[in-house]
Amino acid sequence: MRRQIVAGNWKMNNDLTETESLITDLKKQSRSSEAEVMVAPTFTNLWHAYEALRLSDIEVIAQNMHFAESGAYTGEVSASMLLSVGIQTVILGHSERRAYFKETDEMLAKKVDAALKNNMTVIFCFGEELNDRKSGNHENIVESQIKNALFHLDEQVWSSIVLAYEPVWAIGTGETASPEQAQDMHAFIRKTLNDKYGSKVAESTSILYGGSVKPGNAAEIFSKPDVDGGLIGGAALKAEDFFAIVNAI
Ligand code: 13P
Repeated sequence: MRRQIVAGNWKMNNDLTETESLITDLKKQSRSSEAEVMVAPTFTNLWHAYEALRLSDIEVIAQNMHFAESGAYTGEVSASMLLSVGIQTVILGHSERRAYFKETDEMLAKKVDAALKNNMTVIFCFGEELNDRKSGNHENIVESQIKNALFHLDEQVWSSIVLAYEPVWAIGTGETASPEQAQDMHAFIRKTLNDKYGSKVAESTSILYGGSVKPGNAAEIFSKPDVDGGLIGGAALKAEDFFAIVNAI
């Protein structure tokens, strides 16, 4: 059985007070789905969020990490630092990291290795830009992002990898991929995994969709057979909206 996951990526939003308040609201929500629920606050609020949610069924995860264990990397955070504040899962390769902080496939491969070496779970993000979609090159782009950062991995570590397809043109734009576009791409991703690793990895790897998922469109996207959940940005900042999405699965 594939894991069904709805994860909220809070990005660079919410100071400590706002984080406390959102967590209080999250704890009040009622849940009618079996999906795993995760939230990713900023680094400064991870420990607080972990403590505040440790007795709940919401996992606190990180938005990024560095590939080195420690050292002269001003401003960076390592896997062992995340583990030391209770964080076991990390988002890597988000398109905002790729675009604004110039993270390359090569760097991401090293980050994935570091996370796995520390027995962490990785939510690995990738997705095409609008011009790739318009020129019909979207599958090639996605395939190369996956291959370059993940295809050096052994089959057995794939149980610690979750994929998140996030078309750049759908992030924060209000323009979602249609459920059919999401399904087509997710099926393509699964086929790509199948070609490289065989059906066991392909069928057991969860593939989340991210990009303007809202309470009003979540159920239709999640109803697609190869969509195993969502990575939610803007709508994850309001507890009611986030749980409407969680409960849509
Ligand atoms: P939005 O849901 O705001 O489009 O963001 C998606 C995203 O980037 C999640 O990582």
